[in-house]
Amino acid sequence: MRPREIRHGIYWVGAVDWDRRLFDSLIPLPDGTSYNSYLVQGSQKTALIDGVDPTKERLLLENLDALGVKKLDYLIANHAEQDHAGAIPTVLARYPDAKVVCTPRCKGMLVDLLMVAEDRFITVEDKETVSLGDRTLEFIHAPWVHWPETMLTYLREEKILFPCDFFGSHLATSDLFVTDEGQVYEAAKRYYAEIMMPFRTTIQKNLEKVREYQIDLIAPSHGPIYNKPEFILSAYHSWAFDEPKNIVVLPYVSMHDSTRRLVAHFVGALVERGITVKQFDLPVTDIGKLAMALVDAATVVIGTPTVLGGAHPAAAYAAFLANALRPNLKFASIIGSYGWGGKVVEQLSGMLTNLKVELLPPVLAKGYPREADLKALDSLAEMVRQKHRESGVM
Ligand SMILES: Cc1cc2nc3c(=O)[nH]c(=O)nc-3n(C[C@H](O)[C@H](O)[C@H](O)COP(=O)(O)O)c2cc1C
Ligand SMILES: [Fe+2]
Ligand SMILES: [Fe+2]
Repeated sequence: MRPREIRHGIYWVGAVDWDRRLFDSLIPLPDGTSYNSYLVQGSQKTALIDGVDPTKERLLLENLDALGVKKLDYLIANHAEQDHAGAIPTVLARYPDAKVVCTPRCKGMLVDLLMVAEDRFITVEDKETVSLGDRTLEFIHAPWVHWPETMLTYLREEKILFPCDFFGSHLATSDLFVTDEGQVYEAAKRYYAEIMMPFRTTIQKNLEKVREYQIDLIAPSHGPIYNKPEFILSAYHSWAFDEPKNIVVLPYVSMHDSTRRLVAHFVGALVERGITVKQFDLPVTDIGKLAMALVDAATVVIGTPTVLGGAHPAAAYAAFLANALRPNLKFASIIGSYGWGGKVVEQLSGMLTNLKVELLPPVLAKGYPREADLKALDSLAEMVRQKHRESGVM
């Protein structure tokens, strides 16, 4: 896409990656993504805010050429991750006068990750500013969004916040600004769940910090620009601050249908008791959907057969992922089927140590579930209801 003017002298000059389907070799991208880079021209100096993924750096350079940019003074690096910073060495080679502006921590990381020369940096402290003449960039340190070196950039005169990954969405679109709020809400929640949720408490602090600024536009480095900032600020507020809801997330796997039978019965028992259930058949699940469901849920119940003495690897993967994402869960349990014996419960519960959950009694059926197993599931569903009531979830 060609450069797009946001305000006079402020341009989107990034790249839309329509066809990318996997991020960080982990995260599914059903809707692609974009790497948004922004050019801000002042009366005296010109700054580029964030770069693009190295696979798209040619597009960034073409956009700068199309705008006739002969000299860059500052390359603002809000974040050292390669999907934004990867183009820095190429941009610095093309613009020999440009200095990278970043936090001291980010400088170290850009030297380590991208071998940027030490003499190309200007480091900035929290709330420090850089003048472009008639325009002022203020840098807001915001560590752990989602790496330790991150900062946000605020263009004072225009009241535009450039928060890089914060508030971003993996969404390839030709819309410069948000038009389809439903679509962007889903993509931004997925992004929050996968990238930001593990840092929920620092996200809370950074949200409060952002609230101190008057903001007309939020221009993230993935997905469309928010011209109604309240839309994404209030969504983030509820994801990061709200208490978990009356929801059970049920990731499961079954090879020969015994666990599937348990899951079907358990889901019915929960729904009868007024509890919302989100069920995921792990071998065919988009893990982004699972991550999103974990944002709001009070309880997770993992369903697995016993395989080679322990959990099915797909269930172990889900447990490992849930533990790493650190959702605000209150309760957990395990259900499944086994043939002769194993260590499913010890193994899976041992993988959830980051979560501050109370473990509810597991239900394991020997072979195909019988009446007693289904009754045990009814009891577990009843206990989930009680626990949700007592903890104010329902
Ligand atoms: C490859 C494989 C390995 C298994 N390993 C174990 C095991 O170590 N311990 C055990 O109790 N059952 C083991 N089983 C038996 C299953 O746990 C049992 O058949 C269970 O009912 C399958 O549940 P499902 O129908 O939900 O797949 C194994 C089954 C398969 C296919
Ligand atoms: Fe990142
Ligand atoms: Fe990113």
